[in-house]
Amino acid sequence: MNEHDSERIGGLLAADGMAPSTSIEAADVIVLNTCTIRENADNKLYGYLGSLRAIKMERPDLKILVGGCTAQKDGDLLMEKAGWVDVVFGTHNVNRVVELMDHADEWGPVTEILEETSSFDDFPSYLPARRQTPHSAWVTIAIGCDNSCTFCIVPAVRGKEISRRFGDIIGEVKALASEGVSEVTLLGQNVNSYGRDLDINGRSPVFADLLRQVGSIDGIRRIRYTSPHPKDFKEDVAEAMAETQAVCEQLHLPLQSGSDRILAAMHRGYNAERFLSRLEMARRTIPNLSVSTDIIVGFPGETEEDFQATLDVVAQARFDQAFTFQYSPRPGTVAATLDGQIEKAVVQERFERLVALQNMISHESNQAMVGRSEEVLVEGPSKKDPGVVTARTRGNRPVHARGEYEPGTYLTMEITEAASHYLLGTVVS
Ligand code: 5AD
Ligand code: SF4
Repeated sequence: MNEHDSERIGGLLAADGMAPSTSIEAADVIVLNTCTIRENADNKLYGYLGSLRAIKMERPDLKILVGGCTAQKDGDLLMEKAGWVDVVFGTHNVNRVVELMDHADEWGPVTEILEETSSFDDFPSYLPARRQTPHSAWVTIAIGCDNSCTFCIVPAVRGKEISRRFGDIIGEVKALASEGVSEVTLLGQNVNSYGRDLDINGRSPVFADLLRQVGSIDGIRRIRYTSPHPKDFKEDVAEAMAETQAVCEQLHLPLQSGSDRILAAMHRGYNAERFLSRLEMARRTIPNLSVSTDIIVGFPGETEEDFQATLDVVAQARFDQAFTFQYSPRPGTVAATLDGQIEKAVVQERFERLVALQNMISHESNQAMVGRSEEVLVEGPSKKDPGVVTARTRGNRPVHARGEYEPGTYLTMEITEAASHYLLGTVVS
């Protein structure tokens, strides 16, 4: 969501006549679009702003803008900590970036933070985007979150959940397809609750309807989405995935913890057994499904036994990939006030055990791909070697192979080797 907002900010600046700069030193305007999901994201911002201070002293005309979730959370405090910033704007007024910059130019530093997105028309989706890739695009389907996971700052900074109008989403995907986009990733904090607040002829559209409709748009060959909430992930969505050719066989289902006690304290609305049965249903319904997850280690009160339960669920679930995080207390969340905050060294040690287990499983899962023939979508040359191309399978696994191909090309590759986090292949056609 944050990266997509950055594309919108880039799009607005480009529409105002600006062009991307090749270096910080040459830039007239620097925009930092921040994340505050964990504390080290905040720390990074303030560290980076510190390093920009000297440049601003030398070139007072340089404009420094800070947007995103840390800006939303810190507001005026941000200017107090870094007085050389020109504009602070929040998550609900991305559309105002150019006006705020002009305002700062004329009148001096300005902070504008809104409490909520006031109308459909303020959705960043209506703003021009400057996409990194011509063939692949994000599409916002809902903003905000109505859940109350006790560790999470998102509801505080992104506000209540608002679904985007069904027809507007379809319209945007059609427009993207006509520009040559063949892969879309639908974005929402909790995609399964899409549509609850909408009404089409007396009925609320549901996420499964959206998958089917987007899947019927000419030119769209790959659909991904993030993220579903395990408590709301039901058969109808799995069936829509299975029946809609363009929807990739990929699911990101965030577990967070395998301990029922911790899941309850996190307010997640499911237990380990329910999670595993939903996962089993998804795999049964969607052949060749790749599954990724998010896991937090060291939530307040987590005992060795609770952590062991997480390892057990990870071993049973056999995720193809996991994003693992050390718990970070966020100001204003319930979990930050709980007793039993866990010592850093203990969290670190558990974290390493979890990563080791998951790496083994990811490696085995990738190993099982060897010998298979896969449709891949080219992303571009590999960062390390321009003679090697990086592509992605429908299951979202990165594959590297010899050859030079345009980003956006579909190829068939035979998978020849596997590591924990990538595959190697050869191009067949
Ligand atoms: N500490 C650690 N990880 C967190 N996440 C969200 N909030 C926190 C936090 N306070 C993780 C969750 C979520 C992912 C996007 O970030 O696992 O799914
Ligand atoms: Fe945060 Fe939970 Fe909402 Fe996800 S569902 S954004 S973890 S509160």
